[in-house]
Amino acid sequence: MSIKSIFNNMLTKKSPDEFLEERNSSELKKTLNVFDLIVIGIGAVVGTGIFTIVGIAAQGGPEGVGAGPALIISMVVAAIACIFSALCYSEFASMIPVAGSAYTYTYATMGEFMAWMVGWILMLEYAIGNITVASAWTGYLFQLLKGFSAHLPNWLVNPPIWLINDYRTANIICNREGWDIHDKVPYLFDSIPLCINVPAIVIVLLLTVLLVKGVKESTRLATIMVGLNLFIITSFIVVGSFYVKPENWTPFAPNGFEGIFMGAFLIFFAYIGFDAISTTAEETKNPQRDLPIGILGTLTFCTILYILVSLVLTGMVHYNTIDFQAPIAHAMRLVGQNKIAGMISVGALAGLTSVLLVYQLGTTRILYAMSRDGFLPKSMRSIHKKYKTPHVLTWISGLVVIIGALFMDLNISAELCNFGTFTSFIIVCVAVLILRKTEPDRPRPFKVPFSPWFPLLGIITCGGLMVYSLIKLKTSAILFPLWLLIGVAIYFAYCYSNKRKEG
Ligand code: ALA
Repeated sequence: MSIKSIFNNMLTKKSPDEFLEERNSSELKKTLNVFDLIVIGIGAVVGTGIFTIVGIAAQGGPEGVGAGPALIISMVVAAIACIFSALCYSEFASMIPVAGSAYTYTYATMGEFMAWMVGWILMLEYAIGNITVASAWTGYLFQLLKGFSAHLPNWLVNPPIWLINDYRTANIICNREGWDIHDKVPYLFDSIPLCINVPAIVIVLLLTVLLVKGVKESTRLATIMVGLNLFIITSFIVVGSFYVKPENWTPFAPNGFEGIFMGAFLIFFAYIGFDAISTTAEETKNPQRDLPIGILGTLTFCTILYILVSLVLTGMVHYNTIDFQAPIAHAMRLVGQNKIAGMISVGALAGLTSVLLVYQLGTTRILYAMSRDGFLPKSMRSIHKKYKTPHVLTWISGLVVIIGALFMDLNISAELCNFGTFTSFIIVCVAVLILRKTEPDRPRPFKVPFSPWFPLLGIITCGGLMVYSLIKLKTSAILFPLWLLIGVAIYFAYCYSNKRKEG
């Protein structure tokens, strides 16, 4: 086979009509309505970002300065970076409502190779992102258990660190506390450290079983979690507003533009997830109308919620004393509202559980679409006879998180998740511009206003944040290109030929 024909194959596109035909013959049940979509959206968005990262974004961390009370501006800047991409996702999701999200849109506009790469990159956002959330879940579980330490056995409240952390985190804890890691962590054959984050593994296993049982059942659980989560955040806003002291808002932007921009970069993590709605497009009853409402509704709602949380948080506590690990609960404790502080840990756990659930749902739906296109073995997309869900892929995506959680810590996985998300947002904006040129007459139930300016602004804002973080970060700035290289290698070693074989 000549280089030219390989090159041509790599650029082969799949027409949106082919995707739509596949949607019609899809075995996935179409059960989701606009309410389910918004629940999935809020369930995917409100989690680690608003419960944890908000503290570092306001006060600053080891790698950068914080926004201070200007956190509210950082929130708006991050939301602006997301809104252009959200509009582009809405245009595509209503036009090609199939399971693969950005992967599908790329296949329709940039061809086979780029489609595989975007699918591979999306695994960073969804599967690797879930490693972050699963690790944070363990952290909050122990926050909660410590609140009941008077009534619980010590082995439950303070288990050995090797049973609740990955090795890197265990190492950091030992350094911080001045412990010798060899006293705290068992070693296999005297050389392999054994660190297993058991609670993270258990929660991922439980959610995997639930997802195999069905999307409707899973969104029902997500509805309860989202309800609890929102109730608790609203309680924080309402009760906290009585403790706001306007003098805490001065100086408003102690670190100027740099603090605001760094805060925006960090808090971007809190917004990730609205795009997960588009991965359930094939299970949506009325996708043309409901997907744009779901995506844009979620983003608007979360932006308002986040702005209110930042206003109250920075008004209650001087930005210099905001806590890193549990900023919202800590603020309540500072004003003597211990009961509400305890409730906040429950809300955080509920929020993180729903993020885990929706991200795993997204991972399987993207892999399902990729397998249907011949990038992955056919056996992987088998549908469960009774539950009508892609059970093999659901288990694979659960196992990826479980294995990843053994090797990766929370920070590295969060940074990789950010890189994956920036890239997929940029590509979706580019894809909108391409399809507007190549198929201007295709019916678009929802159109991005002011095109090409809005998609271009999406590319510039997300690209700016991405370049900024590539300069600032170290480990993940190396791991991200490595991930891309591995993706290229898998494409040439397996996907290219398997695709030709499956036809
Ligand atoms: N937005 C999600 C969270 O904050 C990823 O957990």
